[in-house]
Order: sequence, then structure tokens, then C-alpha cells
Amino acid sequence: MYAIEVHNPGPDYELTLGETTMPRPALGEILVKTAAAGLNRADLLQARGLYPPPPGAPLTLGLEVSGEVVETGRDVAGWKEGDKVCGLLAGGGYAEYAVIAAECVLPVPSGVVLADAAALPEAFFTVWTNLFDTARLAPGESVLIHGGSSGIGTAAIQLCAARGLTVFATAASVEKCSACESLGAARAINYRSEDFVEAVLTATGGAGVDVILDMVGGDYIEKNFRAAALRGRIVNIAFQRGTTATVNFAPMLAKRLSFAATTLRSRTNSEKGAIRDALLREVWPLIEAGRIKPVIDSRYPLAEAGAAHERMAKNEHIGKILLTMPSSPFR
Ligand SMILES: NC(=O)c1ccc[n+]([C@@H]2O[C@H](COP(=O)([O-])OP(=O)(O)OC[C@H]3O[C@@H](n4cnc5c(N)ncnc54)[C@H](OP(=O)(O)O)[C@@H]3O)[C@@H](O)[C@H]2O)c1
Repeated sequence: MYAIEVHNPGPDYELTLGETTMPRPALGEILVKTAAAGLNRADLLQARGLYPPPPGAPLTLGLEVSGEVVETGRDVAGWKEGDKVCGLLAGGGYAEYAVIAAECVLPVPSGVVLADAAALPEAFFTVWTNLFDTARLAPGESVLIHGGSSGIGTAAIQLCAARGLTVFATAASVEKCSACESLGAARAINYRSEDFVEAVLTATGGAGVDVILDMVGGDYIEKNFRAAALRGRIVNIAFQRGTTATVNFAPMLAKRLSFAATTLRSRTNSEKGAIRDALLREVWPLIEAGRIKPVIDSRYPLAEAGAAHERMAKNEHIGKILLTMPSSPFR
């Protein structure tokens, strides 16, 4: 089968289309003929040699796909050949075929084009578990989503808005801010021209926000403490401005804040299965009702994975970038 290979891993990596052995589904796995793979920032880090796959995971890039089931391994119940699915992978998505652990598989929601469903798993698994499991975001609360125009951010804004929460977001341009507001943010803050702490405090009458989802880190760590409300919860899923910072922790004490950080990829299949069950119950019905849509920035044929990575590296995108497979109608 065709799959993308990384040459010269490091800052000047190159992605080329190569041929490799087709995977076979092991116990508890399904084999999918892929329609599309979603791009994730983690893929860029892995290609640069900065984010090795967990032990046992395929070396091929790609953390999520959509496609059609072509084979099921032993002990797989509920899925059969021909089913249209999407799922979360520990690796191997940039390829014509991929295996997915049964706990990480979801049906393609009705109303969503098969290829576009590749935009759903990584974003919604991440958003759900961080905002609702870790940060315990509750009805009536407010939330600040940093990186609001990212794949993760566009999913988080829509989900929170659909659940009736007050959503604030940050992004780097007027265009990105207006995209965040059209997805349901009550107020998007252009962090290049405004101080997000001042903006959030003004918009909340000085109270601050109950929950913050942060992928920025660095100087945002202390700023988040200032923007948070009493008993606020802050969850970091990345530290793009740096993993180190000089921080005044006093607001944590005064406001009784919680600060957490999590990763998804290294969790066990059974932990991922619990998140999958929550998505099926809480998120898929909102997608099927048309209240949440995959936000697709662009689609590239698999062979042009390098150009897709370049677009993400330049932060030009809004929403998800997809790689479509040779047989996809979007090719
Ligand atoms: N921990 C986990 O389990 C987990 C799971 C999935 C994703 N993630 C992380 O979550 C982040 C989003 O993932 P994604 O795939 O959705 O990537 P993405 O679409 O490329 O989003 C990254 C966003 O970060 C913002 N950003 C980058 N540098 C920034 C800076 N210096 N200051 C402020 N904002 C900055 C960019 O927005 P602007 O253009 O507005 O600056 C961009 O939209 C990535 O860092 C990824 O590694 C973590």
C-alpha cells in the first residue's frame, strides 16, 4: 500500500509517498481502507524527531482517519466489513490502510461526508477529556479557549457553544477571530492587538473565566492565573511558547485554582474507550443534529503531505487540514 515516509527527520524533514506492507488487524483491532487522514500539530513534531511514537505504535505519521472497514480482528464486536467509521490511532494514518483499536472507533455521523469525518476524532477526544473530565466544565460556566482557530479550538468552541456555555477565544488575526465568533464564541480576542487578560476580565465584569483550555504555555501560564475566576480550572494540552516560565503563583492560592496538563496519545485503549463512549453519547448527537460541523480548512492529496505540513507550520489554517486518499472523491 502507499504510505507517507519521513526522510531526514529534523528541522528540514521531507515527506514522500512510498510503498509499505499493508497492516493486519490484531486481536481487538479493525482494518480500515482510509478515505482521509487528519493532520495534527503532533505530526509536525514527530517528523522533526521531537515526538517519538509510543512503544508498539506504527512509525508512519497520522493520529486519525476515516474510512471503510475491510477486516476485523478476533474479539471485535459491533463492526463489520463495509461500515463507515472514523477513529483515533497511535500512528499509521498517512496511509491507504490503517488499523484502529476497537475502543477508538466511532461511526461516521449521519450528515458528515466520509472523508471529512477524519477531522473529528483527535479534536473531540482531546476537547472532551480535557474540558469535561479534567476541568469538570459545568452548565452555566464560562470558558476561554486559546488557539481558537486551531483544529482543537474550532472543535472546542462549537462543542461549548452547543452546550450553552459562554465561550471566549484567542487567535492571531481579525480573520481568525471572526471565524471563532462565527463558530459560537461570544468574544474572540486578537492576542496580537489586545491583552487577553484585560479583555476577559472586562467581559466578565472582573470575575474571570471558570475554565481555560491552553495550548500556548510560556507567559500564558501566569496570565491564565490572572484571567481565571474563583475556583477556576486551567488545563494545558501543549506549551508552544515554552515549557518553562517565571510565574507568580499567588492567584492560585487566592482564587483556589487548579492547574493540570494532559496528553491523549499515551493513554491506554480502555481509557480512550471511555472517552469514545462519552463522545457517542454527548457529541455525536450534536453533530448529527447539525449543531457541530467539522471545520475543514483544506484538503491535500496524500502525496502532497509535505505541502499540507507547510501550511500548518505557517499557522495559515483555520480548522483542520486533511490528507485525502487516492480513491477519495476529494482527491
Ligand atoms: N495534549 C494532548 O493530548 C493534545 C492532543 C491534541 C493536540 N494537542 C496540542 O494542541 C495544539 C493544537 O493542536 P492542533 O492539531 O489543533 O494544531 P493547530 O491547528 O496547528 O493549532 C495550533 C494553534 O496554536 C496557536 N499558536 C501557535 N503558536 C502560538 C503562539 N506562540 N502564541 C499563541 N498561539 C499560538 C495557533 O493559533 P494562532 O495562529 O492564532 O496563533 C494555532 O492555531 C497543538 O499544540 C497540539 O500539539 C495536544
